[in-house]
Amino acid sequence: MLIAQISDTHISAPGQKTCGVAPMAENLAQCIDSINALDPKPDLVLLSGDVTHSASQDETRHAADILSALAMPLFVVPGNHDDRQLLSKVLGPEICPLNKDGYADYVVEGFPLRIIALDTLDFGKPGGLLTEARLKWLDACMREKDQQPTIIVAHHPPLKLGVPESDEDGFVGAEALGKIVAAHPNIERFVCGHIHLHTNTRWCGTVVTTATSPGMQLTLDLTGKATSRFLLSDPSYLLHHWTSDQRLITHPILLSPLGGPFEFTG
Ligand SMILES: [Fe+2]
Ligand SMILES: [Fe+2]
Repeated sequence: MLIAQISDTHISAPGQKTCGVAPMAENLAQCIDSINALDPKPDLVLLSGDVTHSASQDETRHAADILSALAMPLFVVPGNHDDRQLLSKVLGPEICPLNKDGYADYVVEGFPLRIIALDTLDFGKPGGLLTEARLKWLDACMREKDQQPTIIVAHHPPLKLGVPESDEDGFVGAEALGKIVAAHPNIERFVCGHIHLHTNTRWCGTVVTTATSPGMQLTLDLTGKATSRFLLSDPSYLLHHWTSDQRLITHPILLSPLGGPFEFTG
């Protein structure tokens, strides 16, 4: 099974660059061309939030237009730059399903890996939030199939990653989430975004993987100062490969403008 993960696309209104400089619409279109051309094709694509830059209708429609070119099923969770109702309405409830309480917490079945999507958006705030009731739902959901390898997808990383910008945002409910995750060793991976950097970290018996943004790479400053600045970066996404011997191998795919492929010679 193959899963492509795109994150933090921060799409602006048509004709506009994000923050005035980042060509996110063009970069997302290049990612989609690359994903569509993969052989074998991914079974599905996950978009782990911050689909739009400022949660407007124009931006959401623009993102939906670009994403409609994907040749495989797409599943979306909202990020802190999104409006969950708007995403579900514009992209469609099959792409961003909302539960009866209006949250994009849902399960994708029918594949070797079960996927549980968690909506960590705390509208109007940069950090993550999962309430007790919704964590109970997650626990019950995990108990239903406690043998099937599972991936959780959310926007916010559930732990501090040494990146002040996102560490300061916080995640209300992360500790309780960690207890549930630790109780279910069949959670192969927790995949998310938000920090605009690719990282992998052990956490509560699983591995947390954050995806890059396809165009806005956070400047990494390990001195502990939050700069909230970014570098323009090439289009990129993650490809999660669930192999026949049940290993989840993650490849960061960077679309280099430098040419190739070339033969290794000499
Ligand atoms: Fe983001
Ligand atoms: Fe975010």
